[in-house]
Amino acid sequence: MSRTTVIIGAQWGDEGKGKITDLLAEDADVVARFQGGNNAGHTVVIGEDKHALHLLPSGVLRSGVTAVLGNGVVIDPDALIEEITTLREKDALRGEVLISPNAHVVLEHHRLLDAAKEETGAGIGTTKRGIGPTYASKASRFNARIGDLLDEASREATLNRALEGLKAWCKAAGVKVPDAKGVKARVGEWADTLGPYVGNATERLLDAVDEGENVILEGAQGTLLDIDHGTYPFVTSSNTTAGGASTGTGLPPASIDRVWGIAKAYVTRVGDGPFPTEIEGEAADHLVEVGNEYGTTTGRRRRVGWLDLVGLRWAARVNGFTDLALIKGDVLEGLEEVKVCTAYEVDGEIKRVPPVSAYALERVEPRFETVAGSFEGASQATSFEELPSGVHQLVEGIEDEAKCPVSIVSMGPERSATILR
Ligand code: IMP
Repeated sequence: MSRTTVIIGAQWGDEGKGKITDLLAEDADVVARFQGGNNAGHTVVIGEDKHALHLLPSGVLRSGVTAVLGNGVVIDPDALIEEITTLREKDALRGEVLISPNAHVVLEHHRLLDAAKEETGAGIGTTKRGIGPTYASKASRFNARIGDLLDEASREATLNRALEGLKAWCKAAGVKVPDAKGVKARVGEWADTLGPYVGNATERLLDAVDEGENVILEGAQGTLLDIDHGTYPFVTSSNTTAGGASTGTGLPPASIDRVWGIAKAYVTRVGDGPFPTEIEGEAADHLVEVGNEYGTTTGRRRRVGWLDLVGLRWAARVNGFTDLALIKGDVLEGLEEVKVCTAYEVDGEIKRVPPVSAYALERVEPRFETVAGSFEGASQATSFEELPSGVHQLVEGIEDEAKCPVSIVSMGPERSATILR
């Protein structure tokens, strides 16, 4: 039976979406990214090999899969060329790449503007990949779309409009304007290398749905980083939630059958912004070191905290999760005590819905419960029944709050450490 499945991060990103996409991609015909750019970092471990993907969807590692970069994605051409080249060298590029001509291009100006804002102290801890400025240029209607930029007939006009808009912005922001000649000189190589991959991605996806193929729409970042539903302004600049899968590809909402939420057994966040269940100290160091909580893209140490069921319940409702995958339960092994946040106290009142404002979220007091069961042996379990009582209790707590089944439990980075229920 054919399906269109969306995969969404249920927290602040880095939940392990790449691993689950790779697993579900076993039966997929098309895997598409629909938002974000190379601010993302997905790690997929196959046998001895570890692949870090930033722009390409995880399906690109499987033969017979079409790996789509949808119209909602922003593409840094140099970063994409490097990613394709690295995968080719490792003989790991198995799928067929298809880039939507409507995807927007990240230029050097965008990266400089992003970095300059971070350096003034007015930033929010971005990845400095130029993502926010690119989406801002898109909304301002002067940015270059990759199809128009790589097509010789429209290249000149597209580039001039983008460079004019960016020049004015750089000057206003006090950023040294990059040499236009340098950018123009790169376009030929981008066209030669990436041009063959550009094609009508929306039509390919619509045909796939019509013809009963299996389609996976792979989200980047996480629900709480969504520009509308996340902790604004401490968010990324795109819709990371399930609605973005439709606008970022052109597939109608009604064509989506399943929405998978991916959640870690604890929570991490990179960059600034409220984080009610954040912890420091020994337990935090354990989560960072055992969980290897350092950014795939920037290498930054991630902030860590206990599982937040209030945030997870909200994510399940906003995205309409039909299934959840619980990741990295094995990391809790060895901790003296594992806690879970079941409610927030806001101005003396107990709430099970997060406040809308990020500033109000900063002030909530999390109410924690200690998980009574044990996590010892989690990494050795090969079936759901074999998992220790602590994992069972977490799963029950999540299912009660999120009102959807935890259908996958992952207890290690390898493809083989994944337990299906
Ligand atoms: P930007 O997406 O680079 O503009 O960064 C905006 C916010 O999103 C910052 O807090 C980043 O740390 C965060 N962010 C962006 N991409 C990721 C990701 O893939 N994982 C986790 N956090 C991310």
